[in-house]
Amino acid sequence: MKARVDKDTCIGCTLCTAVCPSIFSMEDDGKSVAKDVELDNETLIDAREAESQCPVGAISVE
Ligand code: F3S
Repeated sequence: MKARVDKDTCIGCTLCTAVCPSIFSMEDDGKSVAKDVELDNETLIDAREAESQCPVGAISVE
């Protein structure tokens, strides 16, 4: 399982970086990016939380 951010959809609210800072970070373009790593049990929970809380549904975890 990996997390992804759809940059065309992200509005740069930064919520995901607060909920799951080990996976999500903000880039210079003001949008979030997810680390391209397999999620372990702990980061999967946090990434799913970020996915459900993103106000524009830009995050997918699959
Ligand atoms: Fe963007 Fe959603 Fe994160 S708007 S900054 S992907 S919470």
